[in-house]
Amino acid sequence: MAKEFVVTPWEVRGEIDYNKLIERFGTEPIDEELLKRIETAAGGLHPLLTRGVFYSHRDLNWILDEYEKGNDFFLYTGRGPSSEVHVGHMLPWVFTKWLQDSLGVKLYFQITDDEKFLFRDFQNLEESQRVGYDNALDIIALGFDPSKTRIFLDSEVIRTLYPIALRVARRITFSTVKAVFGFTHSNNVGEIFYTSIQAVPCFLESVLQGENVPCLIPCGIDQDPHFRIARDVAPQLGYYKPALIHNKLVPSLQGMHAKMSASIPASAIFVTDDPQVARENVMEAVTGGGATVEEHRKYGGNPDICPVYHYYAYFFDWDEDHLKKVNETCRTGERLCGDCKAELADRVASFLETHQEKRKEARDKLQDFILTEEELSELEKA
Ligand code: TYM
Repeated sequence: MAKEFVVTPWEVRGEIDYNKLIERFGTEPIDEELLKRIETAAGGLHPLLTRGVFYSHRDLNWILDEYEKGNDFFLYTGRGPSSEVHVGHMLPWVFTKWLQDSLGVKLYFQITDDEKFLFRDFQNLEESQRVGYDNALDIIALGFDPSKTRIFLDSEVIRTLYPIALRVARRITFSTVKAVFGFTHSNNVGEIFYTSIQAVPCFLESVLQGENVPCLIPCGIDQDPHFRIARDVAPQLGYYKPALIHNKLVPSLQGMHAKMSASIPASAIFVTDDPQVARENVMEAVTGGGATVEEHRKYGGNPDICPVYHYYAYFFDWDEDHLKKVNETCRTGERLCGDCKAELADRVASFLETHQEKRKEARDKLQDFILTEEELSELEKA
């Protein structure tokens, strides 16, 4: 019998069958033909596409049609500031930056401090805001173009978001959110309302421009349920349905049965970790290797079920030839898990050192990226 797994924005449990998830959510796989179209538009393909990490979508063909016609579209993605940022969160953002650079498009980046307060990650909203601004440094450190990127905290621009959220909320029943998210009578009413807020940026550019602008959302597949609802509501409000492109989830350091999760620190590499601590965590990671060195040498390992291999493929090794070699020499048993982890640990430590430097520099750039009510009302008037 197939193993059960659960994927919602707030809970990911069990070993995920990503093809089944496509069926369950009703999304489309990214096939060769679509990859070719993306390649033509973007002038190349990011390894996260060729490696099948971004693997599912909704209406991406339509976005490419619009792009080919020379029509505008914009990107929208986000962060729920519950803690420090980990490498899993960064993955869709790295890809979003590639899309922005390759296609020259505008990006709205929503930081949902309200969500993390409502879902009880924090005792008070101020703490959630503080973490939100701190996470913004990690986003900026990735090198987004400030002239095309607006980052906002929900609570700071709620005056503009609220009228749009109300129009969305009026069209979502409790039955819908109960069916989609599994809410019960013990969920608070803010949680029940929350999807209306995450839906708003899908329509924000259309509201500001006074005409419909298509929206593409790069995100982990776990966030899709919010946007399924947003897509249902969009035509009723006279807007386009948002399009999506979904990534698979970076697994836990402790095994493929779980995702890298901020709520289980030993599962994750946080981008603010001391490089030495991260190094030690990587050396503790579970692998797909043999039980003993002798067995490994004799039968080889299995990268398909190895979190360490997935870290190479998802984030720490963009060189195809090198990755292929890691894969092959693992399978033949030539490459030992200890050596493989040591090399990954070096890559992780060097990434962290560079990122943390850029993060320091990001403090001075914060004002260039943060969207305010003043700017929004100027944009709306224009
Ligand atoms: P959050 O902060 O949980 O996650 C931020 C982004 O990271 C993705 N993600 C992962 N991707 C790969 N591997 C993982 N282990 C992993 N864990 C999380 C998420 O899918 C997400 O894309 N409610 C949202 C914030 C939000 C948002 C959005 C996200 C608001 N608007 C629009 C995406 C698009 C949240 O809490 O994300």
